[in-house]
Amino acid sequence: MSEHWWRDAVIYQVYPRSFADANGDGMGDLEGIRSRIPYLAELGVDAIWLSPFYASPQKDAGYDVSDYRRIDPRFGDLGDFDRMLADAHAAGIRLIVDLVPNHTSSEHEWFQAALAAAPGSPERERYHFRDVTDPEVPPNNWQSIFGGPAWTKTDDGKQWYLHLFDASQPDLNWDNPEVHAEFQSVLRFWLDRGVDGFRIDVAHGMVKAEGLPDTGGDGTIEMIGTTQAPFFDQDGVHDIYRTWRPIIEEYEGDRIFVAEAWTDSAERRSLYLRPDELHQAFNFDLVLAPFSAADFRKAIDSEIANNAGVGAPCTWVLSNHDVQRHVTRYGGGAQGLARAKAATQLLLSLPGVVYVYQGEELGLNEVLDLPAEVREDPTFFRTGGAQIGRDGCRVPLPWTREGSSFGFGANGSWLPQPAEWGALSAEAEDGTEGSTLEFYRAAIAIRKAHKATGLTWLADPGEDAFAFDNGALVAVVNFGADPVPVAQYGTEVLLASADLVDGQLPGGAAVWFEK
Ligand code: NOJ
Repeated sequence: MSEHWWRDAVIYQVYPRSFADANGDGMGDLEGIRSRIPYLAELGVDAIWLSPFYASPQKDAGYDVSDYRRIDPRFGDLGDFDRMLADAHAAGIRLIVDLVPNHTSSEHEWFQAALAAAPGSPERERYHFRDVTDPEVPPNNWQSIFGGPAWTKTDDGKQWYLHLFDASQPDLNWDNPEVHAEFQSVLRFWLDRGVDGFRIDVAHGMVKAEGLPDTGGDGTIEMIGTTQAPFFDQDGVHDIYRTWRPIIEEYEGDRIFVAEAWTDSAERRSLYLRPDELHQAFNFDLVLAPFSAADFRKAIDSEIANNAGVGAPCTWVLSNHDVQRHVTRYGGGAQGLARAKAATQLLLSLPGVVYVYQGEELGLNEVLDLPAEVREDPTFFRTGGAQIGRDGCRVPLPWTREGSSFGFGANGSWLPQPAEWGALSAEAEDGTEGSTLEFYRAAIAIRKAHKATGLTWLADPGEDAFAFDNGALVAVVNFGADPVPVAQYGTEVLLASADLVDGQLPGGAAVWFEK
C-alpha cells in the first residue's frame, strides 16, 4: 500500500439498479449489493463507487435526486445502507457514494416550493429562473445535453427555468449561499454515516458564466466531450471545492472526492486536483481514444505529466454507465473481447488508480438491440430516438448460467438480458480457465504484488505496439493485427491476455514480464 490508499486503488463501479436484485422487484437494491460483497472481495477491489441510490423519481436513473438524505424505497432504506457499508468495511472494501450537486429532481421540495412561489422570491433564487419575454425564445441558446432546449417554461408560462439535462433536473443556482450550506450539510450527513468519499457528478458544471451568455455555434454540447461552454469548467467552480476539502479533512480515514469533470484538456482537468481541492478526477481520454498504440501513449503521457504537476494520482477508465462498453467499442466478438482484455491489463500496470465498471470483469458487451419500449434513458426520448442513449451498458448482470434473469433477481430484470449472457455469468466464469473473470482476478492480484512506481517507455516491439517498465514489471501491449516479438523484454511471464506463440505476442494482446 502506498501512503494513501486512493493513489493506487482498484475501484469498482456498482450501478445499483443493475447489480443484484434481492427483493425480486426487477431492479437491483442495496441488499443485493451486500449479498455480493464476497464476490467483490474475491475480485480484489479496494473500493466501490456506488451510483445514486437516493430518493428519486428515476427520470435519469437516480441522477435526479428528490431527497439527498433518504434512500429510494426501490433500493432499500438507511438500515440496508448501514448494513451494506458495514459488510463492505468488514471485507476491507471502502465505499464512495455519488453526489449530484449540479441539479436536483423537479420533485425535490426546493423546486416544488420554487414553483409554488412567485417570480423573484427566495425560493426561485435557488435555481435559475428567468422571465419569459417571448414565449418562443428562451433566455439563451443553451441546449440540454440530452437533446432539445435547456430551458422549460413554468406552467403559468411566466418564467423559464434552466436544466442542462432533462426538464426534470433543474440546475441549482450556486451563486446562492443557501445552496452551499445545504450541500455542506449533505456531505456531513454521509460522512457521519461512514462513507469513504464522494464521486461528484458534473463537477465542472455548477458555476455558470456571468450573465448566462450564448454558447458558440448552435448551443449543442455532448456530455462525453471536451467542448468549452459557458456552463462548464468555469473558474469559479474551484472555490466550491476549496470549501469542501476542509470538511472532508475533518474526518479520519483518508476519505476522498472524485470529480467527474469534462474539460477541454488534461491540463484544465488537473486544476481540480490541486492540493486544496479534490483528490481524483476521472480521466476519460482512454474512453475517447481509438485502440491504437499512438493514441493510448499520447493519453497516458498527458495524464502522467499533468497530474504530476499537481501531485495527484492518475486515473484510468475504459467504461462506465454513460459510455458504450469497451468490448463493443473495440469491435465486439472475439476481437473486441481480446482487445478489451489487453487494454484492461495495460491499465492495471499503469501508475495510479483503475476504475472497473460492473460487468466488464465478465466480458459483457453493449446490448445494442434493446427495443424502444424498454428504454429509459432520457437521451433516447429527448432526441426522438435519434440518439440511442445509454441503456445498452446498463443491462443487469448475469450471476448464474440459468434461471430468472440469470440470477440477477427472482422476477426478471428491468432491462432484458441477451440469451447468451448465461455463458458470461459469474457462475459460468468462476474457476473456469481462460474466463474473463479469472483473468481480472489474476491481473488484480498480480498488480497488488507488483506496485507500479512510475513509467519508462522501452523500445517499441513493432509499429502498433509499445512496451514500458513500471518499476515493478515490464508490460508489452500489441494494438496491431500482426504478432510482435517480445523475447527481448523478459523471460518469465507473469500474465498474458493471450498465449504467446514462438516468443511472439499476438495482435490485440498484452503481456507482463517479471523484471
Ligand atoms: C453524469 C452521470 O454520469 C450521468 O449518468 C447523468 O445522466 C448526468 N451526469 C446528469 O446527472
